[in-house]
Amino acid sequence: MTQSPETRFRTSQLEENDGPSVNPTDNRTMGEIIAARFSRRGFLKGSLAVSAIAATVSPLALVAADEARATEGSAFKFDELEAGIDDKHHVAPGYDADVLLRWGDPLFADSPEFDPVKQSAEAQARQFGYNNDYVGYIPIDGSAEHGLLVVNHEYTNPHLMFPGIVKIVEKDGKKAAELAPLSKEQVDVEMAAHGGTIVEIRKEGGKWQVVRDGKLNRRIMSTTEMALSGPVAGHDRVKTNADPSGTKVIGTLNNCAGGVTPWGTYVMAEENIHGYFSGELPEGHKEAANYKRLGIPEGAYEWGAHYDRFDLAKEPNEPNRFGWIVEVDVNDPNSVPRKRTAMGRFKHEGAESIVARDGRVVFYLGDDERFDYVYKFVTAGKFNPNDLAANMNLLDDGTLHVAKFAEDGSVEWMPIVFGQGPLTAENGFAGQADVLIETRRAADLLGATKMDRPEDIQPNAGNGKVYVMLTNNSKRKSDQVDAANPRAENVFGHIIEIVEDGGDFAATKGKWEVLLKCGDPSVADVGATFSTATTANGWFGMPDNCAVDSAGRLWVATDGQGPKATGRTDGLWAVDTEGAARATSKLFFRVPIGAEMCGPLFAPDDQTAFVAVQHPGDGGEDWEAFGRPSYYEDLSTRWPDFKPDMPVRPSVVAITKQGGGKIAV
Ligand code: FEO
Ligand code: CA
Ligand code: CA
Repeated sequence: MTQSPETRFRTSQLEENDGPSVNPTDNRTMGEIIAARFSRRGFLKGSLAVSAIAATVSPLALVAADEARATEGSAFKFDELEAGIDDKHHVAPGYDADVLLRWGDPLFADSPEFDPVKQSAEAQARQFGYNNDYVGYIPIDGSAEHGLLVVNHEYTNPHLMFPGIVKIVEKDGKKAAELAPLSKEQVDVEMAAHGGTIVEIRKEGGKWQVVRDGKLNRRIMSTTEMALSGPVAGHDRVKTNADPSGTKVIGTLNNCAGGVTPWGTYVMAEENIHGYFSGELPEGHKEAANYKRLGIPEGAYEWGAHYDRFDLAKEPNEPNRFGWIVEVDVNDPNSVPRKRTAMGRFKHEGAESIVARDGRVVFYLGDDERFDYVYKFVTAGKFNPNDLAANMNLLDDGTLHVAKFAEDGSVEWMPIVFGQGPLTAENGFAGQADVLIETRRAADLLGATKMDRPEDIQPNAGNGKVYVMLTNNSKRKSDQVDAANPRAENVFGHIIEIVEDGGDFAATKGKWEVLLKCGDPSVADVGATFSTATTANGWFGMPDNCAVDSAGRLWVATDGQGPKATGRTDGLWAVDTEGAARATSKLFFRVPIGAEMCGPLFAPDDQTAFVAVQHPGDGGEDWEAFGRPSYYEDLSTRWPDFKPDMPVRPSVVAITKQGGGKIAV
């Protein structure tokens, strides 16, 4: 397997692979505008100087940013944090942000302590995994202070995990980083560091603690046996040499966001599955077009060198067994996780759910790729609140829909059902299993709206609305703009708000509008639409994950900001959605350089915000204060909280109000 060193420095940021713009117009590109903006300002090592803004400033917006601090009408009561860039996390004044779990932390009574120079798959299997993304909380006995924390471990960054594998070399007179090939032992550590964690936590004296001997504590990994269930189970296209039944899969991959179902199971979304596969399909293989639509194989991981199932030449059907939503019964640590194929196969971002008026359960699903789609799945059966066990197979039967956003502000949820419309034998589908395995192609044929990277999608039970995070799409050209994706070269992303017809989440029609176009509102060319009460700290770009607290308020976490993109690190922003304060945003928490902000999740009493700091230190070479690439050897001297022999560790942080009480009330 050959790989370029560049692809092996893995990132969750598909944007990093952007090619040159082919826009034929003379308009200034957004990249040029941003470069001008942040080179004038400079990388200010911790704070932003608004006065450095030059030619592209909208005077009205600048006055607003500098003077209008009005939060009257805002649903959020906290003193805003200052945006900036440094190597620590920061929270708004009056709050504590305590690290609850870090990569490598022991999860069981017999877990070894984390030792970065003596990593093994066996140790990792008993420890908190890497790159925490989704965070969910499942109460024990209804408690807001004692429950199971469920956390997805999306991917691995070997250059930050394994000491000594990065060499800094001179190339064409410049310093460059080279990554040594991983050993099989390191690949095994990676496989154990993926997946998810289920861990009992308890709040004592106002602080959260991990219960190391919790009976339900569990690691899910890329080596955990799972079942395929639903319409695709047992189909020829998911049979392999190792599993002629087509029903037993080893492991889960790239679990990004996810959800907790109304019946208390944990759902994990398999997102960027393409990177794990390498090798070539046999000549003329029937899956070639299917895999091409998903970018398979991409080969960023070296797993195929050690395990046949990741080598397309040896197991050509294996990729069809990934790209699903996985459901885990957390109440039995020996339960077999089930890949729920009725919910479609694509680069699943998240799976947030809500019970519709008639008792059916609705899951909102993003497919995170430029120009891919927004989906929702509606169960056929109804939720039974009186017998949680009766809901355990609800996800095997239902209707997947894909969204078409019209210019007139309406949205249609089109069913993805074999035999309906173009989803027929003439187009190569022999049944619903084929339609689900090739969900993207089915949605293409239905004419779904090509979106700017749909990430987390959150229904809000309080007001009947649904918030869709569209993180960015620098590839959209001016002739590809539409009402729901209104900006060409959309580097900062936007948020769409949907109201389903009749307030019924299971409806097949609704209305939509753009809640927010993101980016710096003081730069007119950016076209951001934050309210004028939003301060210079309050705007953000690249919305990714989000949460709605029990008061129905929206919180947005970002992925992909930084010195060059926005002059600030990623973080968690509180966003007003109602009344005069609508589209006002305030910064609450920010991550260290190089990290993306995941979670977020509010405890049921709103007294804790759990946030996940993913890949801190990655990509920090953009930050002048580093003065060096942000790879393992160099970072160890940069980060005062870490011992010299310790890599940067992704972490889950619990944010609480000093003295107690609800967050931001
Ligand atoms: Fe894993 Fe789309 O973020
Ligand atoms: Ca994401
Ligand atoms: Ca969410």
